Amino acid sequence: MSANYEVKGSIAVITLNNPPVNGLGYATRAGIFDGLKKALAKRAVKAIVITGAGRAFSGGADIKEFNTPKTTLEPNLHTVIATIEAADKPVIAAVHSVAMGGGLELALACHYRVASPGAQIALPEVKLGLLPGAGGTQRLPRVVGVETALNMIVSGNPVPSEKLAGTKLFDQMIEGDLMTGAIAFAEKVAAVRPLPKVRDIKVDYPNHEAFFQFARNTVGAMSKNFPAPLKCVDCVAASASMKFDDGLKFERENFLALMQTTESKALRHFFFGERAASKIPDVPDDTPKRPIKSAAIIGAGTMGGGIAMNFANAGIPVKVLEMKQEALDKGLATVRRNYENTMKKGKLTQQKFDERMGLITGTLSYDDIKDADIVIEAVFEEMGVKEKVFNKLDQVMKPGAILASNTSTLDLNKIASFTKRPQDVIGTHFFSPANVMKLLEIVRGEKTAKDVLATTMTLSKKIKKTGVVSGVCDGFIGNRMIEQYSRQAGFLLEEGCLPEQVDKAIEKFGFAMGPFRMGDMAGNDIGWAIRKRRYVERPDMKYSKTADLLCEMGRYGQKTGAGWYDYKPGDRKPYLSQLVNDMIIKHSTDIKVRRRKISDQEIVERLVYSMVNEAARILEEGIAQRASDIDMVYLTGYGFPLHRGGPMFYADTVGLPNVVTAMKKYAKGRHGEFWKPAPLLTKLARKGKTFN
Ligand code: 3HC
Ligand code: NAI
Repeated sequence: MSANYEVKGSIAVITLNNPPVNGLGYATRAGIFDGLKKALAKRAVKAIVITGAGRAFSGGADIKEFNTPKTTLEPNLHTVIATIEAADKPVIAAVHSVAMGGGLELALACHYRVASPGAQIALPEVKLGLLPGAGGTQRLPRVVGVETALNMIVSGNPVPSEKLAGTKLFDQMIEGDLMTGAIAFAEKVAAVRPLPKVRDIKVDYPNHEAFFQFARNTVGAMSKNFPAPLKCVDCVAASASMKFDDGLKFERENFLALMQTTESKALRHFFFGERAASKIPDVPDDTPKRPIKSAAIIGAGTMGGGIAMNFANAGIPVKVLEMKQEALDKGLATVRRNYENTMKKGKLTQQKFDERMGLITGTLSYDDIKDADIVIEAVFEEMGVKEKVFNKLDQVMKPGAILASNTSTLDLNKIASFTKRPQDVIGTHFFSPANVMKLLEIVRGEKTAKDVLATTMTLSKKIKKTGVVSGVCDGFIGNRMIEQYSRQAGFLLEEGCLPEQVDKAIEKFGFAMGPFRMGDMAGNDIGWAIRKRRYVERPDMKYSKTADLLCEMGRYGQKTGAGWYDYKPGDRKPYLSQLVNDMIIKHSTDIKVRRRKISDQEIVERLVYSMVNEAARILEEGIAQRASDIDMVYLTGYGFPLHRGGPMFYADTVGLPNVVTAMKKYAKGRHGEFWKPAPLLTKLARKGKTFN
């Protein structure tokens, strides 16, 4: 049983002991229940303190148990909570570090609560597509008020315990040793009768109907793909309008219904996927790490500046090297402007601005960077340029420095071979804008040392990125898949679509931006340069020519004021371009393709399933370690809709046999060669299995 029981004088102490965060799994619940029974049976025990061992009071219900029989196995959380509330001796929660979800709900059922300052207090269930299901929506409004409770429940965000001091949530804040204070408090209240219960507090909110209608409008507008936030509002509203037990029942019904939704499953998949991504089977957590106290970036262009900002934001000094003063000044000015804009929005203080700018210094000399613990190269995407840079880095950098490349398409093993220390070379593929995007593809070369990988993984957390390991291949995980998506988007234009139809269909599916709006934003010339290289290196690769024709018209996107769409100066809104649409239609005639009406369903299936098929290959080749890593790449770097859980999770929810059937249909159409199901996909579909 994962809870300890001891008696200190007249006070029984039950300590949850289920590392790392005292999740309320079956064994922990059984431990608490057992402790309560013992304490209630023993005459000498006058009061009971419940606390948590280690780094949390409790992180809440054990999410790993959800949708398994263990969740409901007695004693379930409701039984434990009811037993605490009905106890005839005072039960005191001693809260510290983290009290979240079911953990906070357990504390709310206690007769008293004491807390250390600095504890994170939250009902974060909404982040998992749920609502607090063990009384949180009914009890929290009673102790902190309807408005604070609603904010906490709808946002799921933690509030520091000291901010809630003075509310009925905490009877006492304890500055010194929590257990000493909690036991002293327990002794003080041991004889109090009747025992106070949160359920007996009246929710006094006269104007609640108007308030909740306003809340529904606001929350509904902000959470269009997720049902949970509105249900949270309904349940908190019930606390003001229903009797306590009816409110509990209402909460329970809504909780159980949300648990079955795909949206909640997708969010839980994301929660575990993010954590799983940091685990590398042959590189255990205790692998020694190299200290990273300083960094250097080569190239102050689009990516270099943004990458440098990540280090400064994390308090790590970073030097940026350029070839010419002019390029350096331009790069650093962009960094400054970015910080200034954040400051104007009130998200950065002058002091922080000064600190961060103070951590970034420019240089033209390799001599200035030789002592950096990590250097990240972000120069032009040409092997010749990378060769020169890595030769130089090999000569100058101190032994043990990590030599990283931000290449998005080039062979990392080849880049490593330009040095005499390929074990120190790794890929760190940031996404644009590098100071904003969460994703960091960490590219593991053939010879990359384990401690270099472990260090880079830890560094990704420090700079607040979601690090996902990828093996070496053209485009790594993300861009290799997006190439299939873009290819299908191009073919769709040839066969009958116009850019806005494709964009609208995939945006309706949930993507933040369709492929053509995205191309206009990122610059269509980038893909053009890659294709031009491909036409030479891999003439067998087929693409629609429409994108090349567009670039030949000088329409690179927003930066040239024209791309797939027209743009007006100072306005990022896309306007239909008759010129482009005429070009697309003429191109179909030129290549003798009869244009047809294409459904939105076909658009979505072709764009998404083409990626899924490539992902299956990526998985079976071992480029990605696990299917959820691929989902993390797409959710954190490519705007894949979160409520769909990523491409692999989405394919699982559609059913892999259905995905294969659709692919076989498209294999009969134009360019059917791109629709051969990957062996892994065929195998899983045949066996009725899923990717995740
Ligand atoms: N259940 C199961 N495992 C959990 C968990 C939970 N509630 N919370 C965290 N974990 C696990 C993580 O998966 C991770 O496992 P791993 O080491 O195997 O990868 C480990 O605990 C450590 O987690 P973090 O890396 O996130 O550690 P941090 O110290 O950064 O953060 C935390 C700790 C703030 C508690 C964070 O983990 C968190 O936000 N957890 C989720 C809390 C939550 O959503 N609780 C509500 C659960 S639903 C509920 O209670 C329903 C109820 O209303 C009926
Ligand atoms: P960029 O052209 O904006 O910047 C490159 C910078 O490197 C320029 O300022 C240039 O002066 C400098 N430079 C060139 N050779 C140099 C050398 N030998 N020594 C020092 N500085 C040198 O290019 P961008 O977009 O920043 O790309 C850099 C790298 O990042 C490329 O490998 C690219 O593939 C990769 N990348 C780019 C992304 C993007 O969206 N732009 C996304 C992810 C990766």
